[in-house]
Amino acid sequence: MKKILFAASEGVPFIKTGGLADVVGSLPKCVDKQYFDVRVIIPKYACIKQELKEKMRYLSHFYMDFNWTSNYVGIFEAEVEGVHYYFIDNEHYFSGDKVYTDDPRWEIERYAYFSKAVLSVLPVIGFQPDVVHCHDWQTGLIPVYMKERFRGGDFYRNMKSVITIHNLKFQGKWDTKTVRNITGLSEYFFTADKLEAYKDANLLKGGIVYADAVTTVSSTYAEEIKTPFYGEGLDGLLRARKNDLRGIVNGIDYTEFNPETDGKIVNPYNAVNFRKEKVKNKHALQQELNLRVDDKKMMIGIVSRLTDQKGLDLIAYVMDELCQDDVQLVVLGTGEERYENMFRHFDWKYADKVSANIYYSDALSHKIYASCDAFLMPSLFEPCGLSQLMALRYGTIPIVRETGGLKDTVQPYNEYESTGTGFSFTNYNAHEMLSAIRYAERIYYDRKREWNKMIDRAMAADFSWHVSAAKYQEMYDWLIG
Ligand code: GLC
Repeated sequence: MKKILFAASEGVPFIKTGGLADVVGSLPKCVDKQYFDVRVIIPKYACIKQELKEKMRYLSHFYMDFNWTSNYVGIFEAEVEGVHYYFIDNEHYFSGDKVYTDDPRWEIERYAYFSKAVLSVLPVIGFQPDVVHCHDWQTGLIPVYMKERFRGGDFYRNMKSVITIHNLKFQGKWDTKTVRNITGLSEYFFTADKLEAYKDANLLKGGIVYADAVTTVSSTYAEEIKTPFYGEGLDGLLRARKNDLRGIVNGIDYTEFNPETDGKIVNPYNAVNFRKEKVKNKHALQQELNLRVDDKKMMIGIVSRLTDQKGLDLIAYVMDELCQDDVQLVVLGTGEERYENMFRHFDWKYADKVSANIYYSDALSHKIYASCDAFLMPSLFEPCGLSQLMALRYGTIPIVRETGGLKDTVQPYNEYESTGTGFSFTNYNAHEMLSAIRYAERIYYDRKREWNKMIDRAMAADFSWHVSAAKYQEMYDWLIG
């Protein structure tokens, strides 16, 4: 049995701020249990819901030297849907009512502590992974520490590491001296071929340099990040590591996201009866959100973190024009204030057409996937994107920009060949986006049979973890040898 440990800053069902948590929560369930024992380790945040904390059992604790003091490391465990979770407990680092703070120096200290603790707890819990699979900058120090202080003992000698980049934009950067002090790593590590990038210490870079393999969450993004536009300053390094870099597209949990069994939606439906049944969800959502109730009106959904990554500037730019069209727009999510206020403004201005829900609700997100006719995702960059996969699963046609995972998962409609599962545009340009939306409107209103056939194809597409989990397994096998 090969042993894999996922180390991450978030994971469903315990804690989630974005797609990372979905991947960490769902991929381990789909790896072949006959050959792999995949476990997950995340921090035990104070803001984890009480009912989930009640599932955790205290295992042990010890003290670890870190940042010039002796630090408490508590270990908890839980088992959910067949996946074994561990939690690192430390109230100094993981209290507070939010997962992340906006103090970058403090974030570095918290996750440096977590990274060192992950390696330190292994002998205590008696779990000796063959591969530690790290996710994003928060765990970037694990491959570094593994090659440094933990190399001495037999326990770690053959251990391998992988780092998966879910978003290259976030790297965990701070001045070298401070990071050296916090991490206790010697000067040797802070040169331009190791942790240093542009004079700062960079934790993600450390992970990319020291991990035995590097992955990202779609093949297009794996190509894009080797170029300056998408490379966020690390494109040179990624080009240098191109032989160890692979793109494996994310899947979604097909049990959780299933229009036929989804308890969160008003009226379940499937690939056979959606023509009659899907619209009942739209009807109910229009009532719930005080939009004009009209089964025939084209409803477009947006479920997103409201950050500049998501292409919301394009939407802001043409929103008035779009609202002259015969469409309704339903938005769900939180994020940067300027985007929250932008959507609130249009909700006020076009009350019967626009519904801005500036909060996050899992239940409402499912209702949006089930109710809308189209789903808009004009991202500036998108490592993978999961919402377009959820939309496809619910027969809601994605309208996307051709970047990263969006390009790999949404096949553009071709009216001559009657192929495709969505609409797309190439350039980061608001009117190009608007033309794609208007093209979709024309098909929706004037060629309904064609539209429904597109739904057939969308619902038949398979983005369960099945194929991608096999690719991870292949990589683990290759690493372990
Ligand atoms: C990040 C990326 C998103 C990706 C997710 C899971 O949130 O922005 O594109 O789908 O990670 O990998």
